[in-house]
Amino acid sequence: MNNIFQQNNLVSKQERELRFGTKGAVVWLTGLSGSGKSTIAVKAEKMLTDKGCRCYLLDGDNIRMGLNADLGFSDADRTENIRRISHVAALLAHSGCVCFVSAISPFATDREQAKKAAEKMDVAFFEVFIHTPVEECIRRDTKGLYKKAIDGEITNFTGISSPYEAPSEPFLQIDTLSCTPDEAAQQLCDLVCLYQQLPQITKQLCDVSIAAGVEIMDVYNSDFAVQTKDDRSPLTQADLRANKVIVDFLQKEYPHIAILSEETKDTGARLQNPFCFIVDPLDGTKEFVRRNGEFTVNIGLCAYGKPLAGVVYAPVTDTLWYAAKGCGAYSHSGNETAFFAQNDRIFVSDKTDGFTVMASRSHADERLTAILDNNKDRIKETISAGSSLKGCLIAEGKADIYYRTGLTSEWDTCAMHCVVEQAGGVLRQLDHTPLTYNRTNTLNDKGFYILNRPENTLE
Ligand code: ADX
Repeated sequence: MNNIFQQNNLVSKQERELRFGTKGAVVWLTGLSGSGKSTIAVKAEKMLTDKGCRCYLLDGDNIRMGLNADLGFSDADRTENIRRISHVAALLAHSGCVCFVSAISPFATDREQAKKAAEKMDVAFFEVFIHTPVEECIRRDTKGLYKKAIDGEITNFTGISSPYEAPSEPFLQIDTLSCTPDEAAQQLCDLVCLYQQLPQITKQLCDVSIAAGVEIMDVYNSDFAVQTKDDRSPLTQADLRANKVIVDFLQKEYPHIAILSEETKDTGARLQNPFCFIVDPLDGTKEFVRRNGEFTVNIGLCAYGKPLAGVVYAPVTDTLWYAAKGCGAYSHSGNETAFFAQNDRIFVSDKTDGFTVMASRSHADERLTAILDNNKDRIKETISAGSSLKGCLIAEGKADIYYRTGLTSEWDTCAMHCVVEQAGGVLRQLDHTPLTYNRTNTLNDKGFYILNRPENTLE
């Protein structure tokens, strides 16, 4: 890298997306040879092109006829193959194109690098696992390669004589034994179409959160009554009025997207829908009742259980935190009009020590106390804030770490989860597995942590 200088373009990614109408992304299909990656990808590419979405497929076999014609199938050559494809895909996505990749990409570390290459260019990355058991690939053997590999005519063949490391946390897994290629392509097409709408949806979620905030403040400034729900948590007219504003809006504008709200009876119908809004119309009712101002409106949008967009609004300070996959995380206060303004972009801190830790004192238990005690030397200070504000403070770099050992529900975390991730942080369950949404059991019963950097776990 000696004597190499970064040349900055005069055209930004955002400007290209606005002018050319497509929000770039890398949609990376991984799976065994013959699993159906290319068949599904060409169909998705065609469906989206017919809808006017700029997209392009980089297919493993095709790339090996040109750019990667010098590479074979040793582990090192596969790594180099994926490295080159990763950078081309990130560049195409950065230019305002939905770039599909269909390559076996058998090694998890290479796919991780592909994700990093995309993220370095501020581009969204979706890993899609095309899951077809090797026995089925052998049965289909469309290219006749499995027979050759089994007969020893081809060496280093994935699934036979070379390993395939299945993704442990793909954005989406498609099981080709239980759907047709058309259905699989439609799934990808629907996901990309929703992704294209994220800036608009996020802005609308901000607007409706502010409208819900008006209802909340109306009650806040009056003499309000407090009821107690079955789970002994408080309920006020503010919760109900804010909920009505939000749910009415979402049902009218996005009837095809399911809703899970703290204050609406859950029929479970949402479980059939891959897309779901997760709503807490008033997070921090206790803070509301105490009148300390630390309550928020929370609306998240998830696809296949992962947060795609999130809005947290604090009515008392009139502050918004919002984020969407492929857009980044933002915060602003007061009646500013520009959304996704680069000046408002927020990022987690890069601290590796001397942490500011968020703690909800009212929920401290033995486990949390032990975690904090064991890490005394790495903690500079412990501060507290109500509801999802803890995640937002970490997203904007004002705090670094939050551990929550006690129970929460999906609606308490989904919106801030998105804000944290898009600001560069991580939110995971205490057992280090991903926290997902639109589940049968809506309790987050494993606890979770939020970190500015993945390596900063407090053990
Ligand atoms: S990768 O492992 O480096 O990601 P890539 O997707 O580019 O593989 O290429 C895989 C294609 O090359 C297969 O679909 C198949 O047609 C062909 N091929 C030839 N030899 C091999 C081999 N030894 N292992 C896997 N695929 C092979």
